[in-house]
Amino acid sequence: MSHHLKPQTIIFEKGYDPHLSEGAAVPPVFRTSTFVFRKAEHGKRAFEIAYGIRPADPGETPALIYTRVNNPNAEMVEDKVVAWDGTEAAALFSSGMGAVSNSCLTFLHPGDTLVFSDPVYGGTEYFFRHLLPSFHIRTIPFPVGTSEAELDEIVRRDPTIRIIYLESPANPTMKLCDIPAARRVADRHSRKDGRILVMVDNTFMGPIFCRPKDFGADIILYSGTKFIGGHSDLVAGLALGSRELIGQVKVTRTILGANAAPDTAWLILRSLSTLQIRMVQQQENARKVVEFLHAHPKVREVAYPGEPCMGEEQLRLHSLQCTGTGSIISFFVDGGEDEAFAVLDRVHLMKLAVSLGGVESLIEHPHTMTHADMTGEQKARAGITANMIRLSVGLEDPEDLIADLKQSLDVLL
Ligand SMILES: Cc1ncc(COP(=O)(O)O)c(C=O)c1O
Repeated sequence: MSHHLKPQTIIFEKGYDPHLSEGAAVPPVFRTSTFVFRKAEHGKRAFEIAYGIRPADPGETPALIYTRVNNPNAEMVEDKVVAWDGTEAAALFSSGMGAVSNSCLTFLHPGDTLVFSDPVYGGTEYFFRHLLPSFHIRTIPFPVGTSEAELDEIVRRDPTIRIIYLESPANPTMKLCDIPAARRVADRHSRKDGRILVMVDNTFMGPIFCRPKDFGADIILYSGTKFIGGHSDLVAGLALGSRELIGQVKVTRTILGANAAPDTAWLILRSLSTLQIRMVQQQENARKVVEFLHAHPKVREVAYPGEPCMGEEQLRLHSLQCTGTGSIISFFVDGGEDEAFAVLDRVHLMKLAVSLGGVESLIEHPHTMTHADMTGEQKARAGITANMIRLSVGLEDPEDLIADLKQSLDVLL
């Protein structure tokens, strides 16, 4: 067919052949730990690819081996999910942290350095601050909003830098990173023997409202637990990029044992068909909530992409890199921890829980929950204050959500 299909159609059409599954119209769950080879030669060839001994030949479909290596349900997710980001390949993981850690460990070696936009999700921050240094890998934060010239200066001075890692928008401050600037810096200072990779955690906006690959990202990361899973009933992660880079990441995944279970992959397959419609509707709901928050006398500030209050540079990045505003909002109440807790303890419809991107609204306190491990100084520098609340807007009726927020915020009046 010469007609160019859109991602929303591709995810139905691609990655599953009913005739390989007894004609089942939708994929069954392949709940098996191991796979039978037709011939010994097929097993040999499959292992060569799985261990990175040789790349797959053009058009070669390697035999399935063992579910820690590959599984039809995981491969279906991988084949479908690339439609939105426009990448060649994807690797599914048992968690977002699995995707982050396996991707970084694939390309970093003792003596290397990773620089990262600050703040990042608390688990990622822990990995960068505690675990990577224990493997003699240095990690250096730079504040979101660092100019291209300043980032260039950091990378120019340090020939051990291998990865520029961005989380955009940053959890929980909602500030966007300049992806094209990171790409230019990486290209200026890459050497023949060591290309500097740009990795982007696109969990908050993607894959519907931002395509980091279009701005030069080599690896795009997701906590699939969030919008991609979308129903708060699974934990998963994804790394996307070129066939070559993702092939290397998959070797690490096989050895570290971070592949997702078939049941998880199957749930994601169900979720993918509604991803776009969920994200668009959740965004519409969130915009109404943002309008309400701006008007409430006990809300000091709202952090939401594309809002004029985010400042001129953030607006420029938003119009360049994003096609939407998403459905995660951070806001700051009048007061400190006591006041924030008073609001959190009064919500009825929203669930007081970490995580985000699900069909039900979730609300939490980054300072003492998701970002608890950061030092006081780090939190202060990043703007994660005790009066900050992070809200993930779901699919409830927005009028009801606003009524819930109003009755809880009114406790501060
Ligand atoms: C931006 C971001 N990246 C990565 C992760 C880690 O994902 P997971 O909890 O699926 O391991 C999270 C979790 O909240 C996140 O918010």
